[in-house]
Amino acid sequence: MIQTPTFDLEFIDDRLALRAAHRPDWKPVSIDWLDAGLRSRIRAGKRQLLARALGLHRRAGLHVLDATGGLGRDAFTLAALGARVTVAERQPMTVALLRDAQRRVRQAPESAWVEVADRLLIVGSDARDLRPEQGPFDAVYLDPMYPDDGKSALPQKQMQLLRELSGDDLDALELLDHALRLAPRVAIKRPLKAPTLGRLRPAAQLRGTQARFDVYLGTL
Ligand SMILES: C[S@@+](CC[C@H](N)C(=O)[O-])C[C@H]1O[C@@H](n2cnc3c(N)ncnc32)[C@H](O)[C@@H]1O
Repeated sequence: MIQTPTFDLEFIDDRLALRAAHRPDWKPVSIDWLDAGLRSRIRAGKRQLLARALGLHRRAGLHVLDATGGLGRDAFTLAALGARVTVAERQPMTVALLRDAQRRVRQAPESAWVEVADRLLIVGSDARDLRPEQGPFDAVYLDPMYPDDGKSALPQKQMQLLRELSGDDLDALELLDHALRLAPRVAIKRPLKAPTLGRLRPAAQLRGTQARFDVYLGTL
């Protein structure tokens, strides 16, 4: 029997969690931006591909639009490396998880983490509705859900649940077109072997072991 996907939000202790009621064997997903995995990514600093793709290694204090917020792990990394980050997410339940994660980091005893959380502005809307005046943005970051990539910054189970909730981002090309009108630099994360999105040639491709970043420059 095919079960209709049903998702619930609930508090587990002080943490908001997303549960897939039709998948009782899956653990609920919540966000912890201070977990060991993310701390170690942050320690890797501005030399890591994500930071370089967005130009963080060249100039301090950039304003980045993360147009595919998801669980905010990339956005939080960018903010921890000094960027101001506007995070757009269109799935309302995911937005609730993001806001809850930000609330909890704001309660952290270390003021440095509170400052990082304060550099994130979470916008619960489709990034294609954002206008340049809501910036100005120095760079836009895109990490659309890729059909069955099997490789992601998110732990695999979390990604499965997020994929079931949001579906594949089949309108990513439209989002890239819009992003190119919002900022002079756009970086999009792609699986290593995926073709470029659309026909525009990236100015650079930064390749890692699990993914690559296609960088588009000077298109404003
Ligand atoms: C692969 S996840 C991003 C993961 C994220 N980079 C992270 O570190 O957690 C893609 C997310 O982008 C969101 N999304 C896709 N297109 C969007 C759009 N046009 N505007 C806002 N959110 C979008 C989806 O709802 C999904 O939550």
